[in-house]
Amino acid sequence: MPKIVIALDGHSGCGKSSTAKALAECLQYAYIDTGAMYRAVTLYLLRNQIDLTDNQEISEHLPYLRIRFQRNPKTGINETFLNDENVESEIRMMRVSENVSQVSSLAEVRHFLVAQQQAAGKEKAVILDGRDIGTVVFPNAELKIFMTADVQIRAERRQKELAEKGQRVDLEEITKNFEQRDFMDANRKESPLRKAKDAITINTTYLTFEEQVNEIVKLAKQKIQEV
Ligand code: DC
Repeated sequence: MPKIVIALDGHSGCGKSSTAKALAECLQYAYIDTGAMYRAVTLYLLRNQIDLTDNQEISEHLPYLRIRFQRNPKTGINETFLNDENVESEIRMMRVSENVSQVSSLAEVRHFLVAQQQAAGKEKAVILDGRDIGTVVFPNAELKIFMTADVQIRAERRQKELAEKGQRVDLEEITKNFEQRDFMDANRKESPLRKAKDAITINTTYLTFEEQVNEIVKLAKQKIQEV
């Protein structure tokens, strides 16, 4: 079966990661959560109390960061490891969400991570989710999807997800965080969030999770047959 690269970009919290995971399982493809990589860098900088606007100091630290993913056989989740420590739950906390857009706006950080993402996807049979996959990381990806959804719906879904993990967060706080991240992601100088010209938009506001996965699986299977 031919192998393709699938780029899944879009706004924060519209279900890209869970959709990508389901898609990867269905197609037996690898999955790379590029947002988790930006989150891991953010966590490292916060823990080490590094000024998030100090490009010079951040650049000096980057060579000491090793980010990798490892599948948890019990849950099937591809967990994020930072210098061999499992940081999967810590990188999803609000403290990281509140600072990740600042960190991901830095050219040094982007160059560092984009090179790793390109290396990880070079054998194809891979799905990457993020903000710049179809525009910068893999501009020649065979299938590009741009996911979006109404911000209120995204916030409600995220609140439920966090509650299931035992974190109670105010709906307004989540909505504000999504709005700020959407704005910063779309307006940064370095690789801003853009829909690639050849990307297919999927608006998940009125779709169930199953419907959105099925829709994208259908597109992926069509594309795999075409190449
Ligand atoms: O997908 P996510 O919400 O976990 O991503 C966290 C942040 O990382 C998001 O606010 C923007 C940034 N990001 C990015 O700039 N480029 C990517 N390819 C992936 C994420």
